[in-house]
Amino acid sequence: MNNNTPENIVGKVEKLHKQLHYHNHKYYVEDDPEIPDSEYDKLLRELQAIEEEYPETLTEDSPSQRVGAAPLGEFTQVKHLLPMLSLANAFSEKELIAFEKRLKDRLVSLDDKENTEEDKMLEFAVEPKLDGLAVSLLYKKGILVQGATRGDGETGENITENVRTINSIPLKLIGNHIPETLEVRGEVYMPKASFEKLNQVARENDEKTFVNPRNAAAGSLRQLDSRKTAKRKLAMYCYATGLIEGMELPTTHYDALQQLASWGFRICPDIKVVKGVAGCIQYYEEIGTKRDNLAYDIDGVVYKINQLDLQKELGFVSRAPRWAIAHKFPAQEEMTVVEDIEFQIGRTGALTPVARLKPVFVGGVTVTNATLHNMDEIRRKDVRVGDTVIVRRAGDVIPEVARIVPHLRPEHTQIISMPENCPICDSKVEQIEGEAVARCSGGLFCGAQSKQSIKHFASRKALDIDGLGDKLVEQLFDEKLIENISDLYGLETEQLADLERMGEKSAQNLIDALQQSKTPTLARFIYSLGIREVGETTAKSLANHYRSLDALKQTDEENLQKVDDVGPIVASHVVSFFQQDHNNDVIDALLKAGVTPQEPEQIESEMALKLTGKIYVLTGTFTAMKRTEAKTQLEALGAKVTGSVSKNTTAVIAGEKAGSKRTKAEKLGVSVFDENKLMELLGSN
Ligand code: IVH
Repeated sequence: MNNNTPENIVGKVEKLHKQLHYHNHKYYVEDDPEIPDSEYDKLLRELQAIEEEYPETLTEDSPSQRVGAAPLGEFTQVKHLLPMLSLANAFSEKELIAFEKRLKDRLVSLDDKENTEEDKMLEFAVEPKLDGLAVSLLYKKGILVQGATRGDGETGENITENVRTINSIPLKLIGNHIPETLEVRGEVYMPKASFEKLNQVARENDEKTFVNPRNAAAGSLRQLDSRKTAKRKLAMYCYATGLIEGMELPTTHYDALQQLASWGFRICPDIKVVKGVAGCIQYYEEIGTKRDNLAYDIDGVVYKINQLDLQKELGFVSRAPRWAIAHKFPAQEEMTVVEDIEFQIGRTGALTPVARLKPVFVGGVTVTNATLHNMDEIRRKDVRVGDTVIVRRAGDVIPEVARIVPHLRPEHTQIISMPENCPICDSKVEQIEGEAVARCSGGLFCGAQSKQSIKHFASRKALDIDGLGDKLVEQLFDEKLIENISDLYGLETEQLADLERMGEKSAQNLIDALQQSKTPTLARFIYSLGIREVGETTAKSLANHYRSLDALKQTDEENLQKVDDVGPIVASHVVSFFQQDHNNDVIDALLKAGVTPQEPEQIESEMALKLTGKIYVLTGTFTAMKRTEAKTQLEALGAKVTGSVSKNTTAVIAGEKAGSKRTKAEKLGVSVFDENKLMELLGSN
């Protein structure tokens, strides 16, 4: 460094602070980075070098303070300036209606005769109920001076050093009208993806894994050594304020949160304002369907009266505000007993161990089976018949055995091992070295595999044969009316009508549906054959590339690899599928029965062309999917997705909270699309 006068050094440090705070906020709060990580690291190293040489420049709001500090002996206690409240719970609509009634009864200000019914509708700010740990942050003159756990609501533990390591927590506030004193409350949590990664690494190193993201967040935040916390990827969403001095908040909770955002705090993008309990319930359902796709774990939603003066009028009882309630989702984990462990055979012969359970109500349904995935999983979790286990059912995901309860294990249990022969067809079970799955070698001689292949053929994404569900396939197969997919087209109305639970009418409907299924697109037809590792997208690519079934049958592995997303493994599966006589016999029989795959002319080739040559930039957050998912889907349709906006960009696709990229697009006259337009492009609207 030249000219190292104290003024120059101070100026330089200030500039670096500003740059680093700004880019940190862009990256962790707005989710919209402007510079590559390497550039950020360079700035940080520059700052650290100065701080080392001139220790007097080091301040507690320095961006270098996110790496953690020397370990503490214990956490000290701190008193919250205003108590941290908790929430009352509701589990049903009935309880919510009672909640709304209590509010209306109490709020005399609503009684004004002049008020219309519309005016009397209460307005709620509605928010996801984040499954992490409540934390209170204290800022003096805009500088973070303290972070504390909730504790008993009055006093918590001082976790300032740990909190400083969380990148989405501002060390110094930005913007205007910064209060003298500001207490901000929110939830510190571990994003689902970070949790998965953390556990994956733990498994690889034979270390203990965390049960769920909440426990991982708690374990990370309560480290006496904040350098350890710094290594964990925690995040925070703010949802409330405590004491504020030297500044008036806006009049609604929602606007108060926007005010917090303007100071640099991270606010959950899924927060909304709705009218009445009806609006709340709609929100509950909306979030319920989105739940699995959210980047963070939630265990319900929270409804808060939006008007701050009404909140004040309502006050609180026994540490919970009268003006808010948590509407919880049904528990996703319950305890039950494993009565048996069986092996199910899938379409490609893979053996999946399944636990037969004592029926248990979890995640809103009664569960009697739970997958154990594969032998590695059984060994890792050490599940045995007789064990008491925690069953987990998250959204639409297949219920799984999450873990056992070791101290409830009965005596004399047996370790489960993989059967040597297929429990259905008795063929040898084979396991390829290094692969987790074992497979029945029986192929279509195996009744289980045949059934699965027929179910797959009839399924929605394949030939979409209306009325031919899994149960009916089982029935037709067990009654020996069909052995493979081509037999479907030989079925007659009378045969079907004779079946149990089938009438004349449903029989005729099925025959009609079969007739209608005879002209699938080539892509659907290829997908419906159930070739290993050939999913919908690959089937589409194959159809677009080869344009006829004959061409596909005659190709070789080398040629196949020229097709988009076909690698050596998929190529070898395709070739070996068409090398097997019985597969060709079935295909010939299908064609003979009148099934005529429609070779792609416009529809699919147009799809591919539609986005070929287009260049998109994704920014902000989307509600229906993550940005990475949107990127993958756009690319699958031929588009290019880049990180920076230029005049060559076809369009910037902006989700919520889109920042500088959107502005840049507008400046350059590049089109800006919203999420609806994105869904339209992806063809899923
Ligand atoms: S507000 C004034 N909002 O739920 C009420 N809490 O059961 C203070 N939580 O301790 C809480 N998401 O840890 C509020 N959007 C949200 C929340 C939320 C999760 C947690 C928080 C609190 C607990 C109360």
